[in-house]
Amino acid sequence: MDLFTAADTTAEAQAKKRIAWLTAEVARHNALYHTQDAPEIADAEYDALFRELENLEAKYPHLKLPNSPTTQVGATRAAAFTSCPHRAPMRSLANAFSTEDVEDFFTRISKFLSLGTPPAVLIEPKIDGVSLSLTYENGKLTRALTRGDGETGEDVTANIRTVKSIPQNLSAESPPALIEVRGEVYITEADFAALNEKQAAQGAKVFANPRNAAAGSLRQLDSAITASRPLQFLAYAVGAVENFTPPDEESALVQTLAQWGFTTPQIHLSKSIKDTIQAYEEWKNNRHTQVPYGIDGLVYKINSRTLQNRLGELARTPRWAIAHKFPPEQATTVLNAIEIQVGRTGKLTPVAKLSPVHVGGVTVTNATLHNEDYIRQRDIRVGDTVFVERAGDVIPQVVSVVESKRPAGTQPFIFPHTCPACGSQAARLEDEADWRCLNHFTCPAQLEAQLIHFVSRGCFDIDGLGEKQIQLFIAENLLQTPADIFLLPEHADVIKTWEGFGEKSVAKLTAAIEKAKSVTLPRFLTALGIPNVGETTAQDISRHFTTWPNVLAAALAPDAEAQFTAIEGIGPVVAAAITSFFSNPRNVELTQALQTNGVTIQEYKKAAKTQGFFTGKTVVLTGTLSTMSRDEAKARLISQGAKVTGSVTSKTDFVIAGAEAGSKLKEAQRLSITILSEDDLLAHFK
Ligand code: IVH
Repeated sequence: MDLFTAADTTAEAQAKKRIAWLTAEVARHNALYHTQDAPEIADAEYDALFRELENLEAKYPHLKLPNSPTTQVGATRAAAFTSCPHRAPMRSLANAFSTEDVEDFFTRISKFLSLGTPPAVLIEPKIDGVSLSLTYENGKLTRALTRGDGETGEDVTANIRTVKSIPQNLSAESPPALIEVRGEVYITEADFAALNEKQAAQGAKVFANPRNAAAGSLRQLDSAITASRPLQFLAYAVGAVENFTPPDEESALVQTLAQWGFTTPQIHLSKSIKDTIQAYEEWKNNRHTQVPYGIDGLVYKINSRTLQNRLGELARTPRWAIAHKFPPEQATTVLNAIEIQVGRTGKLTPVAKLSPVHVGGVTVTNATLHNEDYIRQRDIRVGDTVFVERAGDVIPQVVSVVESKRPAGTQPFIFPHTCPACGSQAARLEDEADWRCLNHFTCPAQLEAQLIHFVSRGCFDIDGLGEKQIQLFIAENLLQTPADIFLLPEHADVIKTWEGFGEKSVAKLTAAIEKAKSVTLPRFLTALGIPNVGETTAQDISRHFTTWPNVLAAALAPDAEAQFTAIEGIGPVVAAAITSFFSNPRNVELTQALQTNGVTIQEYKKAAKTQGFFTGKTVVLTGTLSTMSRDEAKARLISQGAKVTGSVTSKTDFVIAGAEAGSKLKEAQRLSITILSEDDLLAHFK
């Protein structure tokens, strides 16, 4: 017995310590979040601290401190804005993190109201913004207050008048004498990305998330800055009212708000727990596509206001509503190192090596840092605590730095100017964000991808040399550059003894390689994999210079860029990519080695073009054709003098739509461009 008491006392002593720490810590994070707009931890991490404190207080009620943040809403006010009392308090919402939590909520309510089945609930998205209370007197906007501590808010009226989606006057014939309209100020995900880009480019503060950006924008001392930010407002509730009886259903109230001129959230009435959970799953899976703004969960509100009144309120939250949170997509963790990865085309991507952190449903240890500018503009350093985000299927990324947690002695990151895979000089072209390794053929990181491209249909078109064979030949040291392909027949005797190969298949491969040795100039140029030089550009270059020696001479000439920009369809970016490619001696050596190993490049003959229906027209192919491949259709169109492009613009003359055509077809319809079927195409070819 004594033993138990002793153990209890120790547990209690520990709880006391922990409660004191949590009380202070939650209060500190409240201040960082609400008054400084500079959170040090992600929302989910805050929620976890808050819940731990709530649980400890529930277990040891006598240890709860009088200033506990669990009984306060939000944070204390900042001095900069005048504080002003709300007429009706602004409450927060209790959270549900699991289906069980939601079931408990419904059970509690049914029990409280002595109902057999739970009453109907209104489901709304929980907008990840900043709550706001707007006072309208006789239909005129007179005051806008932030939530503050729930009893008293900050007066942000001047700033709020700059938000276009907030009506200055209610469109109602006989508006209430007074009404507090409550809702959320937010920034859409797209506007947030653009705002952060702009901020980063100007060396200004980069926000961790849209809510943080909305809060920072709202709490500007200069209304002109607020006006320049893309703030929007959604109305979902009312506070105090005078001379007005709100409808008895929450759903009808939302409709009234919409009639008055507010934007309101999508609502859905649910009659069962099953229906509610199903709605949750659907919203969770489509949270980034269903609505343009960030949502961090759903809010369930008992639809009948009569029942709401019977249920009443707790200290900081109503009993009649709950927020069902989505799994978090942001977390904070430590950035231990920055590694540079080399992509298939030589792009150097900085990758953050992180202390493992659970976010977006998985444990994340790597996140993209995008490019040199992204790191420099945000001053992301090794050793920093960073916000990491993993939204849906998107690659995890580092969003921002918690500067207050930066350890002493860190250094700004210097982006390397050499390729980590092969050591050769990298380059960053004008107008490009990425550094690239230009050693496309001998850089081990690029070789496999380059070889696959090299033998593909629009290039050397070698049958029997697929991804698997290429991987094997690289591993066996038979392929170190594309020129080695043409030496493969010399190794036929060895290859045919390997598993998966036989006399026949090796003979076939040898024949395909021999046949490929004679290549047209456009295919040769396409095969080189010069950035920005695809089939169409290769055609343009070939038509202009007609022979390979002419192309090479132009590329190595002092005025190379001018020689290429002189070609119709080639601009400065493509010309720079071409000259930069040939400025690397290894690339020139490769073209020589190919010829040494037997490749001959045919002279370009301007085919006497058949004049036809498509001559001089710009055509886009989309969907699947049943009688020919897209490549064949494209070649035939080009041979008729058509220009075949990849995207639909106002300059497109025809869109040829095969089966299952998608967005390009839609775009063509939108732009009223003539759409041809496969049958039309065949008819015009005749
Ligand atoms: S109703 C008394 N509905 O979430 C209940 N709140 O975590 C008043 N929020 O303070 C809130 N979307 O700032 C409600 N559709 C929605 C909401 C919503 C976002 C915010 C609001 C609230 C916080 C609670």
